[in-house]
Amino acid sequence: MTFQKVGILGSGIMGSGIAEVAASAGAAVLVRSRSQNTADAMLLGLEKSLAKQVEREKKTKEQADEIRERVSATTALADLADCDFVLESVVEDLGIKKALFNELDRVVQPGAILATNTSTLPVVEMAMETSRPEQVCGVHFFNPATAMSLVEIVRPLTASDETISKVSAFATACGKDAVEVKDRAGFVVNALLFPYLNNAVRLLEQGVATKEGIDIAMKGGCGFPMGPFALLDLVGLDTSLAILEALHDEFSDPHYAPVPLLKRMVAAGQLGRKSGQGFYDYRR
Ligand SMILES: NC(=O)c1ccc[n+]([C@@H]2O[C@H](COP(=O)([O-])OP(=O)(O)OC[C@H]3O[C@@H](n4cnc5c(N)ncnc54)[C@H](O)[C@@H]3O)[C@@H](O)[C@H]2O)c1
Repeated sequence: MTFQKVGILGSGIMGSGIAEVAASAGAAVLVRSRSQNTADAMLLGLEKSLAKQVEREKKTKEQADEIRERVSATTALADLADCDFVLESVVEDLGIKKALFNELDRVVQPGAILATNTSTLPVVEMAMETSRPEQVCGVHFFNPATAMSLVEIVRPLTASDETISKVSAFATACGKDAVEVKDRAGFVVNALLFPYLNNAVRLLEQGVATKEGIDIAMKGGCGFPMGPFALLDLVGLDTSLAILEALHDEFSDPHYAPVPLLKRMVAAGQLGRKSGQGFYDYRR
C-alpha cells in the first residue's frame, strides 16, 4: 500500500465506499464527517457491509475484523494532520471544495497528497487554493466504490509526475484499474455517460415510454446492467444535476443542459436512493 494513513472527507455514498476499499487494501483510514451522527452511520454501514461479505464467504471473520479496526472517524479536520494522502468526497460544489482545499492545505502535513473525488469540477481550481498545487490531483472512484473496477486519475496542469504515479499506485493497490485523464469536465466516463442519462429523462418527459419501459429497453437492447433511471437514482439526482451543470458550463453543448424534470425533482428533494425517492420509490 502506497499510503500508510488515508484521510477521507465526507461520509456520504462515495466517502463511505472509498473508506472500505482503502481499508481493505491495508491502509489505516480516518474519515472526517461533519457530525457524530453521520460518522456513526458510516461505521455502522461499514460493519453491515463486512458482515454481508463474511456471510457470503467472500471474507473470513478475521479479515473483516481487521478491516473494521483500520477505519476510524472524526468530526475534526485537524485530526487529518498526519495523513500522507487525503481524498475529499463531499458534495459536488466547487465553492465548498475550494474552501476545503484551502483549509486542508493549512492542516495536513507538508508533502502529503491532497486529492478530489469530483465527478466533473476543475481540479486545477482546487489545486490553486493550496500552497502545493503539484501535489493535488483527482482520484475519481465509481459508484459503488467497492464493486466498480475503474478509477480515473485526473491530472491537472499543475500536478507533478510523482503525484500522478503515487495515486495510480494507490488505485492499483486498491484493486482498481487506473486510467489517466485530462482535467476537463466529465473526464472520460461522465462526459460520455451524462448526455445519455439526460436524454433518457428527456424521452420520459416527452412521453416516448415509461421509466420502466426505458430501463428495460436499455438493459435488453444495449446489454447495460441497469437502465438510466435506476442509475440516476443510484448516483443521486442532486449529484447528477451538478455534473450536468458543470458539463454545460464548460462546453455550452445543449446535450448537457439539464432537462427541466431533473431540476424539478431535485427541487422537490427527490434525490434517488439516498432520500428514499427518485424515479423509483425505495421507502418500502
Ligand atoms: N454518487 C456517485 O455516483 C458518485 C460517483 C463518483 C464520484 N462522486 C463524487 O463524490 C462526491 C460525493 O458524492 P456522494 O455521492 O458521496 O454524495 P452524498 O450526497 O452521498 O455525500 C455528500 C457528502 O458531503 C458532505 N457535505 C455536504 N455539504 C458539505 C459541506 N459544506 N462541507 C463539508 N461536507 C459537506 C455531506 O455531509 C456528505 O457526507 C461528489 O464530488 C460527487 O461528484 C459521486
